[in-house]
Amino acid sequence: MSDDGTPQDALDGGRTAPHDAPGREVAISLRAVNREFRRPRTSLTRPPAVVHAVRDVSLDILAGERFGLVGESGSGKSTLLRMISGLDRPTSGEVLIEGQPIHDRSPRQLGWLRRRLQLVFQDPMSSLDPRMRIREIIAEPLVAQGIPRGSRVDELLERVGLSTDAARRFPHQFSGGQRQRISVARALAPDPHILVADEPVSALDVSVRAQVLNLIDEVVEGFDLTLVFVSHDLSVVRHVCDRIAVMRAGEIVEVGPTEQVYTDPQHPYTRQLLASVPRLSEALAGRSAAELAARTRAALVAEGATDEDSAQRLAEEGARADGGHAATEDHARDQHRHQPGEPDTGGTSDRADR
Ligand SMILES: Nc1ncnc2c1ncn2[C@@H]1O[C@H](COP(=O)(O)OP(=O)(O)O)[C@@H](O)[C@H]1O
Ligand SMILES: [Mg+2]
Repeated sequence: MSDDGTPQDALDGGRTAPHDAPGREVAISLRAVNREFRRPRTSLTRPPAVVHAVRDVSLDILAGERFGLVGESGSGKSTLLRMISGLDRPTSGEVLIEGQPIHDRSPRQLGWLRRRLQLVFQDPMSSLDPRMRIREIIAEPLVAQGIPRGSRVDELLERVGLSTDAARRFPHQFSGGQRQRISVARALAPDPHILVADEPVSALDVSVRAQVLNLIDEVVEGFDLTLVFVSHDLSVVRHVCDRIAVMRAGEIVEVGPTEQVYTDPQHPYTRQLLASVPRLSEALAGRSAAELAARTRAALVAEGATDEDSAQRLAEEGARADGGHAATEDHARDQHRHQPGEPDTGGTSDRADR
């Protein structure tokens, strides 16, 4: 500890701590965190397979940082987030939130954590109870914490760009982008310090993705939050984060300021990821998923990706991420509702008839 109370490991700039932010508190600290899953036994003679989902991750995230975690599907991002959020416990290692250990606590002992840390998930349709009105959904964390709701719900709806009459409607009456705004409002309700978002825009159509990213940007700024943002898509993370960690097979292979990782990637895997992910702006410019896939695959092969399969897989993943939802129902509805360039904020008026 230094004289001004800054924990020493934030000052040393330890392996994964940023060095340009002296004096800020450590919001989240991970120390040699591992998580193994045992697969169900498929044979009487062989031992059950073990999946090492997170391997020896040590990391400090400072208060007010916008920290991104990227890596392809299955690299352990959600498992790490769940441990940060107290929803899962590490097999070994320590997790501290604002200096408090949570890795060895039961959910019952972590009531306080829900006031400090809130989550937004990928698919708002499955994370919002379809039978509850928006008012109840947003007030739920307040009720759970015994916080008087007052006019908080209306305030939060306005804060996320929805009109207050959204409160009496149900989740299915909104578009994908609007549902994610509702998830953000609910997360903000108990006035948390930390917002954890797991692929928050990956299920959304490209046309509304940037708007939801801007919203996250605004609330992180306005509510003075620490953000942990997970995505398999580097272009999305670049939009919101000031430092990123790249995960591969449970390990963090590279961590650094966002622009540095983009312009001067150190790890070959980061370079491969960068080559494979189409830029958000290109996707927004309306390139088709197939075109993007062909281009990224060609780029990987040209870069000397020895493994055709991995080039194909990464290219497909990039395309899925940026164009694969083009034909969803949400897309059709959002397209119908919004003129190009118009934010999907405000009105629910034309939804009343649906
Ligand atoms: N509850 C679980 N039981 C068994 N294996 C799991 C469980 N959760 C995650 N895994 C495995 O851990 C690895 C990492 O998964 P996950 O953290 O979901 O990755 P990501 O979010 O990066 O896609 C995967 O191999 C996945 O199959
Ligand atoms: Mg995941």
